[in-house]
Amino acid sequence: MSGNADINNLLVTGGAGFIGANAIRHLLAAPGFKGRIVNLDKLTYAGNPLSLADIASKHSKRYVFVKADICSRKAVADVLDKHRIDAVCHFAAESHVDRSIARPSDFVRTNIVGTYNLLELCRERMDRIHVFHHVSTDEVFGSLGSSGYFTEETPYKPNSPYSASKASSDHLVRAYHATYGLPVTISNCSNNYGPYQFPEKLIPLMILNALEGKPLPVYGDGRNVRDWLYVRDHCAAIWTILRRGRRGETYNIGGRNEMQNIHVVRLICDLIDEMAGRLAGGSPRTELITFVKDRPGHDKRYAIDCSKIERELGWRPKESFETGIRKTVRWYLENREWVDNIRSGKYKAWIRSQYGTAS
Ligand code: NAD
Ligand code: TYD
Repeated sequence: MSGNADINNLLVTGGAGFIGANAIRHLLAAPGFKGRIVNLDKLTYAGNPLSLADIASKHSKRYVFVKADICSRKAVADVLDKHRIDAVCHFAAESHVDRSIARPSDFVRTNIVGTYNLLELCRERMDRIHVFHHVSTDEVFGSLGSSGYFTEETPYKPNSPYSASKASSDHLVRAYHATYGLPVTISNCSNNYGPYQFPEKLIPLMILNALEGKPLPVYGDGRNVRDWLYVRDHCAAIWTILRRGRRGETYNIGGRNEMQNIHVVRLICDLIDEMAGRLAGGSPRTELITFVKDRPGHDKRYAIDCSKIERELGWRPKESFETGIRKTVRWYLENREWVDNIRSGKYKAWIRSQYGTAS
């Protein structure tokens, strides 16, 4: 089945995180979507209500926030019933590979058990749920060598606790379609970047450290390749799938922007030198680049073949890496209040608990 006209009350999980917040902005502005959004988020260190503060006041009749855990049967059931939810877009997850290496338990709990809980509660309300869209990652496919692309047919071979937990949740979602006929769709996308991303991921971390003149830690030799997807292109793809994606199908979403990490970091340095001026003393920010010990199990290369969603649903990424990264750097320069908020308290406390320092 299809039909966005059917979506009146959309449950977004993890909407206070990076992609979820961008998606809520996109959906509330999308022509053709007149419904309401209920954002259910536990507000972990990665969830920031400030990312949607203006939306909460501007769209007070179409947007509701509920602080809750996707693993709670009672809390999720209450939301599904009270708000007569007829569609779900599931973003909520523990999302950072390095954290999954340090402490995998939260990844198993939220990404696997939490997804199971949502699926089970939606199965019990199948007469009402038109679509359950599950947002996943290309990391479930493992690592590529120097050639080739991930397609929807690539076998799963996850290497980190994060990607293994996402792979597990993908299988559960697919199984709920095959076994119970739950109308699911799944997307596996490449690395996102853009506004509101928590500064533990490569791009915002490098932007903020470069601005502040701090070292830029590049893992290993910096030649690992990621395929960068501008977050607003990703949100447009999700909206397309919610409306017209074939139920039971998976769609790969990528930006056609493969780049080595070291090139990404150099480009960021050059852009900040251009927009904010060089470091005191006139040194270029590339001098801050520091090669550090590699991540264990570090996947060499990710690259997405997104021809299925292009061919079947007519979606295409609009941003090149050059245009998207320029917009992103400018956003971080212009949104210091958001940055200062997210860099304070919660994030530093976590670093202190893990490593004993909060630098
Ligand atoms: P994020 O870490 O920025 O946000 C995750 C959100 O989920 C936060 O708001 C957090 O509070 C919430 N959350 C975590 N545990 C929860 C729980 N138990 N109950 C309710 N809410 C909970 O993540 P993101 O980068 O926005 O990623 C969103 C989704 O997209 C994830 O499923 C991730 O696996 C997937 N994805 C992300 C990328 C990327 O580059 N960021 C790439 C591919 C796929
Ligand atoms: P990251 O943003 O953590 O995303 P993922 O691991 O999900 O791809 O990392 C992107 C790439 O950047 C990855 O190859 C690891 C590398 N990286 C660094 O070199 N230094 C850093 O400080 C971080 C956070 C990542």
